Amino acid sequence: MRMRKELLLVLLALGSMPMQALPADDAQLKRGRLLFMQCRACHDTEPSEAQKVGPNLHGIMGRAAAKGSEYAFSESLASSDIVWTAETLDRWIERPSALIPGTTMVFAGITSSEDRAALVAFLEHATASSESAKRR
Ligand code: HEC
Repeated sequence: MRMRKELLLVLLALGSMPMQALPADDAQLKRGRLLFMQCRACHDTEPSEAQKVGPNLHGIMGRAAAKGSEYAFSESLASSDIVWTAETLDRWIERPSALIPGTTMVFAGITSSEDRAALVAFLEHATASSESAKRR
């Protein structure tokens, strides 16, 4: 009886896990890659010499905001105490100006939480520092 109750709890926990906590599947990554076309005009995910309108996003996961590339970040983003995780990136791409009022990133936001999860999964994959993390 006791075993059963524990099993039930585990199943309940799995069912309520947020999408980002599960490994991204290929369909999700593909969707994310497609969605990133909106970002690509201003951002690169690979290290690059060329400056775009926005900062390079290579190695962004787990990094404090505005600490990456040589880039003239806004005072608002630079003085924030944001660290980029799946959770903060989700809020950022939902509406940048809501997370950081005064940011110079002009982007309306993505309302679909499913699309945001796909985009974050793609970012985790494409901005990873180690090449081995990308071989999938
Ligand atoms: C029109 C250009 C533009 C577009 C489109 C754009 N960004 Fe940005 N992004 C910027 C600028 C400019 C900044 C710097 C903001 C600041 O300093 O306040 C920025 C900052 C960021 C940062 C913070 C970088 C850091 O080092 O802290 C992330 C993450 C980011 N953008 C992701 C995205 C994603 C994902 C998309 C697509 C959904 C996107 N951006 C679309 C211009 C853009």
